[in-house]
Amino acid sequence: MESTRRHAVFGLLLLPLLVVSAAGSVPAPAFLEEDVILGATVAASAAGSMGKGANASTRRRAGGGGIGVCVGGEKWKEEIAGMAGRAEMGAWLRRVRRRIHERPELAYEEVETSRLVREELDAMGVAFRHPLARTGVVATIGTGRPPVVALRADMDALPIQEAVEWEHKSKNPGKMHACGHDAHVAMLLGAARILSARQHHLQGTVKLLFQPAEESGVGAKRMIEDGALEGVEAIFAVHVSHQHPTSVIGSRTGALLAGCGFFKAVIRPLRPGSGDPVLAAASTIINLQSLVSREADPLDSQVVSVAQVNGTGDQPEPLVLGGTFRAFSNASFYQLRRRIEEVVTLQPRVHGCEAAVDFFEDESFYPPTVNDGRMYEHVKRVAGEFLGARMYRDVAPMMGAEDFSFYSQVIPAGFYYIGVRNETLGSVHTGHSPYFMIDEDVLPTGAAVHAAIAERYLAAAAARSLDLVEEQEL
Ligand SMILES: *[C@@H]1O[C@H](CO)[C@@H](O)[C@H](O)[C@H]1NC(C)=O
Ligand SMILES: *[C@@H]1O[C@H](CO)[C@@H](O)[C@H](O)[C@H]1NC(C)=O
Ligand SMILES: *[C@@H]1O[C@H](CO)[C@@H](O)[C@H](O)[C@H]1NC(C)=O
Ligand SMILES: *[C@@H]1O[C@H](CO)[C@@H](O)[C@H](O)[C@H]1NC(C)=O
Ligand SMILES: [Zn+2]
Repeated sequence: MESTRRHAVFGLLLLPLLVVSAAGSVPAPAFLEEDVILGATVAASAAGSMGKGANASTRRRAGGGGIGVCVGGEKWKEEIAGMAGRAEMGAWLRRVRRRIHERPELAYEEVETSRLVREELDAMGVAFRHPLARTGVVATIGTGRPPVVALRADMDALPIQEAVEWEHKSKNPGKMHACGHDAHVAMLLGAARILSARQHHLQGTVKLLFQPAEESGVGAKRMIEDGALEGVEAIFAVHVSHQHPTSVIGSRTGALLAGCGFFKAVIRPLRPGSGDPVLAAASTIINLQSLVSREADPLDSQVVSVAQVNGTGDQPEPLVLGGTFRAFSNASFYQLRRRIEEVVTLQPRVHGCEAAVDFFEDESFYPPTVNDGRMYEHVKRVAGEFLGARMYRDVAPMMGAEDFSFYSQVIPAGFYYIGVRNETLGSVHTGHSPYFMIDEDVLPTGAAVHAAIAERYLAAAAARSLDLVEEQEL
């Protein structure tokens, strides 16, 4: 996922954006002190049972909140938790994550990471397709027949110099897994191990998408173009979050993350001496500012922010305007894009100038991430059944953006967070910070939740089709 830091694309002053945001204003991420304390207690019991290799019987004795509380003969919980909770699994997940962390690679350069993924899949005997979107990998587990459900992890790192001093610090200068994608890859490989050991329980097929270029370069879009979603009827993904205590799951129905776009307009006089680009730019900025204040529903959060003006108006140098826009609904996002284009190209003509505008659609143009109601319910139900209801919370929408949105545009999708916050370890920093770190105890839980979500999705789909058959027979 990406924070507001993407403004760095233009080398702009970033701070004003969130402050300047629209009248309806962006809900602040809900993170109450009491939540932390309550969540921390709960998370401690879960981490204690999973991470430290306790088995199902000790977990049950420990009481609620732990992983794998087995009820009503639903063996899947105990079996998945048992497998994920093994000390060997935890150690392997840490090793995988640390190897990736030490060798961060930027968008479309995930060569070593992709090779590591394929080697681990080979070692498990899991079949895969490669390459998609240059470095992407799609693994397949299960019957090979429909229904097909997908799980996705992103592989790319950020152009940030790691400031955390630890044994597995990034060895690639100026590059860092500062958004937890190393953990995402490890957790999805963990899910591959669990699911391949449970093939006989899968009532359909699971596809595991390891995609490049989430942070920039719209890797998800390229994966779709290369056929990653062929035959897939639903998709899920998890993102680590410093806002929730370790292993706590968070999600919401509907819009979860904003759509995020950038624009750059180049303004010139129509003919030499015909107009003043500085006046044209000034008037364009005023009109861009009125898009949200005069055209948007105040209850539908939107942002348009002009954050760069460069040029003197001296010919032949053009005058450059740069900015960003955000919206939570698909319709509002595309409407803003259309209106920005109109204002930026038409307003300068009033002042005898012309303008061309670029929306960087191959680099940084992400529609809103919108959770399908049924997929959201599925995540919430599985997380609640598996980890205990206190380990799940509904969260507020955030202004960050995710290229998972491209999948959510095509098929029903469910995106959720898994907490990595642990004050003792110091994993309290936001993604894209050079101090970002995670509580690695999250890895077994994340792998198990991934696997449970896929396996239970297929079980529910099979039950639904049985219901349909019965209805037809009646
Ligand atoms: C934080 O990490 C420490 C050290 O691993 C662990 O003892 C503690 O249980 C963790 N706390 C949470 C909330 O997971
Ligand atoms: C589970 O742990 C308990 C206590 O450590 C131990 O007595 C028991 O044998 C273990 N059971 C399994 C199946 O490993
Ligand atoms: C501003 O424009 C000048 C002249 O075109 C250019 O050299 C400079 O790099 C631009 N600055 C930014 C921040 O884009
Ligand atoms: C979002 O809006 C665009 C432009 O109107 C449209 O092409 C696309 O299908 C929409 N996506 C969804 C998921 O509604
Ligand atoms: Zn991310």
